[in-house]
Amino acid sequence: MALFDVDPHHPDPSVIKRAADILRDGGLVAFPTETVYGLGANALNADAVARVFEAKARPAWNPVIAHVTTVDEARALTTVWPAIATVLAKAFWPGPLTLVLPKHDSVPDIVSAGLPAVAIRIPNHPVARALITALGAPIAAPSANRFTELSPTTAAHVQESLGDRIEMILNGGPSDVGIESTVVDLTGATPVLLRPGVISREMLASATGVSISVAQDEARDNTPRHSPGMVERHYAPRADVWLFAGDDLHELQQSITKEYPVEPGRMTALVLDWSLALPEHVRVIRMPNDPLAYARMLYATLHDVDQEGLTVIAIERPPQRDAWAGIHDRLNRAAH
Ligand code: TXA
Ligand code: MG
Repeated sequence: MALFDVDPHHPDPSVIKRAADILRDGGLVAFPTETVYGLGANALNADAVARVFEAKARPAWNPVIAHVTTVDEARALTTVWPAIATVLAKAFWPGPLTLVLPKHDSVPDIVSAGLPAVAIRIPNHPVARALITALGAPIAAPSANRFTELSPTTAAHVQESLGDRIEMILNGGPSDVGIESTVVDLTGATPVLLRPGVISREMLASATGVSISVAQDEARDNTPRHSPGMVERHYAPRADVWLFAGDDLHELQQSITKEYPVEPGRMTALVLDWSLALPEHVRVIRMPNDPLAYARMLYATLHDVDQEGLTVIAIERPPQRDAWAGIHDRLNRAAH
């Protein structure tokens, strides 16, 4: 595996060309996007996409996102392009939004896991965009982690999880958004939110003037499903995760000291804005009280905690507001 550092704003064209050549030959390249790192393959090469599933140990029922750089390229992957797709594309592309639309036959079935719809995103990261352009084809890319592991927000996270299974990693520094894109299904009569992200339901509703319904979780078996990626134990660190409400601190404190025999030094608490003292052996990590800043550091923080071999992560639940929905979703999955 080759690891190349690239300037996130002005990637060296010769490095991008090398990466695109690997993709053209059916190889796998991990690359930065503004959300998380993606594990890329040529989306029009079914064998290459099959290798993505293999490298991640991703179940065949879980479809991947096709990344393109223009709305015309996006439309070419679909058979129906509703007016609302144009509105959402204008409002949020390039950016952390994925649209699910009826799939064109030119997209191999493996990309959509046999579903009649394909997920499409125009990323905003210059490295991702340069790579798609250099390949001259859409790039199929799930997050560059093994199935059920935390998504990577740095090249080091990718290297640790998949370094021995892929041809190249482009290191463009830490991802800015920090959690995966918002996924919206546009194949039905009304838009359905399949996965929350930093583009919130309220933002989608105010851009479109349409209310956005929320998909019925959950995925309890291994059959293709409407919202296939939303398996419960996903986005999970190795440590146990407990969620607690900010006003339940007393309870948390008691449970730490009495009920749970957590060894000294093996526990950390991710907290927002309070100063109540926890037992000395609990390490406190203060998280920003702003959803965008919180999202940016969430996975990196959980990765760090895992690296240190801590066994319990207690996390204060953020406020129950729309802007925090993507964070709540990831925290609930991590704690499952
Ligand atoms: O931010 C992101 O979306 C990152 C970067 C690399 O773009 N990618 C990512 O991919 O998170 P992945 O594979 O980890 O998550 C894709 C999500 C899954 O929940 C998957 O089930 C859903 O999108 N999805 C993909 N294709 C779909 C389809 N045809 N219908 C419904 N859901 C789909
Ligand atoms: Mg993923």
